[in-house]
Amino acid sequence: MTVTDPSVSPLAALVLAAGKGTRMKSRLPKVLHRLAGVPLLGHVLSACEALGVSRTLVVVGHGADEVRAFLPGGVEAILQAEQRGTAHAVMQAIPALDGFEGDLLILSGDVPLLSAETLQALLSRHRGAGAALSVLGFQPEDPARYGRLVRDEQGRLARIVEYADASETERAIREVNAGVYVARWSALREALGHLDADNAQGEYYLPDAIAWLVGRGDGVEVVVTSDAIEVAGVNSRVELAELERAYRHRIARRWLEAGVTFEDPSTTVIGPEVEIGPDTVLEMGVRLLGRTRVGDGCVIGAHSELVDTVVGDRVQIQQSVLHQVTVEAGTTVGPFAHLRNRAHIGERCRIGNFVEVKGSTFGHGAKASHLSYVGDASVGARANIGAGTITCNYDGMHKHRTTIGEGAFIGSNSTLVAPLEVGAHAYTAAGSTVTEDVPEGALALGRARQVLKPGWASRRKEISRT
Ligand code: UD1
Ligand code: CA
Repeated sequence: MTVTDPSVSPLAALVLAAGKGTRMKSRLPKVLHRLAGVPLLGHVLSACEALGVSRTLVVVGHGADEVRAFLPGGVEAILQAEQRGTAHAVMQAIPALDGFEGDLLILSGDVPLLSAETLQALLSRHRGAGAALSVLGFQPEDPARYGRLVRDEQGRLARIVEYADASETERAIREVNAGVYVARWSALREALGHLDADNAQGEYYLPDAIAWLVGRGDGVEVVVTSDAIEVAGVNSRVELAELERAYRHRIARRWLEAGVTFEDPSTTVIGPEVEIGPDTVLEMGVRLLGRTRVGDGCVIGAHSELVDTVVGDRVQIQQSVLHQVTVEAGTTVGPFAHLRNRAHIGERCRIGNFVEVKGSTFGHGAKASHLSYVGDASVGARANIGAGTITCNYDGMHKHRTTIGEGAFIGSNSTLVAPLEVGAHAYTAAGSTVTEDVPEGALALGRARQVLKPGWASRRKEISRT
C-alpha cells in the first residue's frame, strides 16, 4: 500500500467509537467485541495504519476507559461525554483539529472489514474531483436500517436519509451509506455548525452535512463499492455472527488459494495478521490468532489454538494450546499439550500428551513425552524428560530456574526443586526428589530405599480371619 503523498494535503483519520451499541445487549462497548479474535476497533485502526494517515483520533464515550485502554500508543482519544449522534461525535474533535488544514477520513468503529485499498479509492476520487466531502456507498442484499442515498434527477447525491426518518419510497432505495467519509476539514467543520437534531432520533446526524454542502454548491462525491462484506456494520450479535462467518469464508479462501488445506473452513478461525505456509493442513476447529506464523507442510490438529506463535516447517500439533511460543521445524506437539510464555522448542523435539511448558527452552531433539510440567527451565539438546517430571520453579515468593544439560535423562516422576542444575548426560533416578545440583555424567538418587516383607500378604489374611 502506498503511503499518501505528503505533497498533497495532509490526511488525518477520525474513528467514531463512542456509541453504546444498544442492540448488542452487552456490557462490553460494541467496538471491543471481537471479529476473528480482534476487537472491531482494532480492525479499523489497522486500516488507518495501512493507509498511512498522519494522525488517528478516536471518539470514545460509552465505556470510554475500556476503549481507551485498548488504543495503541500514538492514537489520540477524544471524549464525547454524551452520545448525541455521529455529527455531535465529530464536533468533539474540533478543538483537537484546531489549525488542521487537510482531509479528514471519518470511519465508524463498528465497520471493521474496510480495506486500505477501498479507502484509497475513496480518497483518490475525493481529491481528483476536488470535493468537499466524499462518502462510501454500497448495495447490500438487505438494506436494513442503513441510511439511504437520495440522488437528484441528474443522479448526483442530494442527501442521505436515515432509516428512522425515511418515507416508504425512500426506504425502497437500495443504495446505502457505509458510514465512511473523507472530507475537506475546513468545509465539514463549517457544515457541522449548521446541523440540528430535529429528526426521529433527536440526534445530530453526520450524513446531514451532505445536504448542507450540496445546498451551498460544494462538490460531494459517492464511491459505490461492490463489496458488501467490506462495508458491513455491526449493530447486533446476529450481524456480528454473520460477518464473522463471511470473513472466515473470505480468509479461508485466501489461504486455500495459497496452498493451505482446510478440513472444514467454516470452523477455522484465522486472524488478519496470521501467515501460513503451503501444504499445511488445518483440521477442524483450529484457531490461529494474533501474529501467528505457521511454516510449510505442518499439520495443525483439530481444536488447537495458536496465539502469537511461530511454528517452523513440518511441525505436527495435535489438540494443543500454544500462546506466545516458538516451535522449530520437525517437532511434534500434543495431544493436549499447553505451551506458553515465550517457550522456545527446538527442532525435532517431542512435547507429548499432558505436558505443560512455560517460559522454557528445549534444545534440538529434546523430549518430554508424557505428563510433565516444565517451567522456567533450559533443557539441553537430546535430553529426555520422563513421564510425570515436575520442575518446582516457585517457592511461594520467587520463580527459580532449572537447567538440564545436553543428553541428560530425567527419570519418570522426578521432582526437580529449583534453582537446580542437572549436568550434561547426567541421570536422575525415577521417583527422585532432586534438591542438589547433579554433576555431568552422575546419577542422582533421591528416594527412600525399598523395604521388602516376604509373605506379608498371607499373614495379613490370617490376622483378618481371627
Ligand atoms: C450510521 C449512519 C448511517 C449508515 C450507517 C453505516 C448516521 C446518523 N447514520 O448509522 O447512515 O448507513 O452508520 O454503518 O451517522 N457514534 C458515536 N457517537 C454517537 C453516535 C454514534 O461515536 O453519538 C459512533 C458509534 O459508536 C458507531 C458509529 O458512530 O461506531 C455509527 O453509529 P451507529 O449508531 O452505529 O449508527 P448507525 O445507526 O449504524
Ligand atoms: Ca452502525
